[in-house]
Amino acid sequence: MIEILNPAGVARARVSGALVGDILQTIRSRATVGTNLLEIDEWTRSLIVAAGAESCYVDYAPSFGRGPFGHYICTAVNDAVLHGKPRDYALADGDLLTLDLAVVKDGVAADAAISFLVGDARPPQGVALIAATERALAAGIAAARPGARIGDISAAIGAVLTEAGYPVNLQFGGHGIGSTMHQDPHVPNAGHPGRGYRLRPGLLLALEPWVMADTAELVVDDDGWTLRSATGCRTAHTEHTIAITADGAEILTLPTSQPGAADSHWPEVATPQFWEERYAITDRIWSGRVNRVLADIATELAPGTALDLGCGEGADVLWLADHGWQATGVDVSETAIARATEAAQTAGLADRVRFLAADASTLASPGRFDLVTASFLHSSAGAPRSVILRRVADWVAPGGHLLITSHAAPPPWAAGHAHDHHFPTPAEELAALDLQPGDWQLVVAESRTRATASPDGEPATLEDSVVLLRRNRPGAAF
Ligand code: MF3
Ligand code: CO
Repeated sequence: MIEILNPAGVARARVSGALVGDILQTIRSRATVGTNLLEIDEWTRSLIVAAGAESCYVDYAPSFGRGPFGHYICTAVNDAVLHGKPRDYALADGDLLTLDLAVVKDGVAADAAISFLVGDARPPQGVALIAATERALAAGIAAARPGARIGDISAAIGAVLTEAGYPVNLQFGGHGIGSTMHQDPHVPNAGHPGRGYRLRPGLLLALEPWVMADTAELVVDDDGWTLRSATGCRTAHTEHTIAITADGAEILTLPTSQPGAADSHWPEVATPQFWEERYAITDRIWSGRVNRVLADIATELAPGTALDLGCGEGADVLWLADHGWQATGVDVSETAIARATEAAQTAGLADRVRFLAADASTLASPGRFDLVTASFLHSSAGAPRSVILRRVADWVAPGGHLLITSHAAPPPWAAGHAHDHHFPTPAEELAALDLQPGDWQLVVAESRTRATASPDGEPATLEDSVVLLRRNRPGAAF
């Protein structure tokens, strides 16, 4: 049976989802070299109880396991991938740990999984496996629009996993979820677009791409539950519960906070709270000067309407307004937007600018623009940055430009603590955008160096990755 939730049910699902996201995040920040999997199970039990929720796992006794699961969370290490039964094992540096958690609160279940590397070691194969499942999940979520079909999600997930070079196993996949954890429809991790159940608002789905490095075959552990790769190779698994809404998919199992974010300088995903903590430290965190690349490129364009994504305290928006553009700035941080608004007033440019505090992954289209630009954008809590950039590329008017600037390499002074952050080359940026070739003209894809000063005032050189595209006018392709 397929359950469709009413708005009150979806509201309850948001609460259950945030709880799952937060518990996973808490465990992720606590789990370290030496942590025992049984400790993690005990932490989970007490976090579920403290939240007034119930475990979906303890008494769960499906046909694919031996007897009731008897634990509160799945812990799968390295070759273990699904249904990992917590056991007496202390984590080691570089272990690839997957946590999978489902709880029910106020009658609604939510289910999510994360994979991450324990300690400081960053084995490349582990990093690649995790990244592939995260990209596949993002692609699946992006495909989960009302009116689309299950096959569209499956095909999107499968395409990413296959392209990353991993065989896909179809024995276990995603599923409907609602008053109970496992419901119809099944969401295989590969499939055909246009086939299967048609998505409608109120449907909750748990999407869960998982991969094994060199095999599609699973073996069952002696514990009767834990599923491992048949070859002993490493594995990864990432899962979110989403709600189909009239506007698209809403991710329900994101953590509401990101413990430790304030002291990690370059998080791959920056939440609104991360930004608020950064902005709280001083009155102004950015230089107040326009980004070099934007100024160089926009000078060559005829002024029109512009959108700056991740506008921070608004220096680029003000520069554009000062150079004849009607400019809109979007940023997740309320503090940044308040500062930008004030700066516009002070500069006498208030009538040429508009600022919005919003996460671009969920913001309804604010219109079409002659220039959409993003400089040094992070992934938001709502989506990876590539998904956000693809979304905003749609907001470029025919004949308009899309300009993306990012760090091609860590700033010399940040190299030590930037190892979790990926620095894309222009080619990678372009590939991630995955634009329809006939719709766009590539104008610039290069890295450019510029001189700057480090936070200590030392001269330094920065490398920017610059991608500029022009959107074709209809009928003007090629
Ligand atoms: N939450 C898992 C899933 O993603 C199922 C785990 S079942 C368990 O569908 F009993 F092993 F925990
Ligand atoms: Co699931």
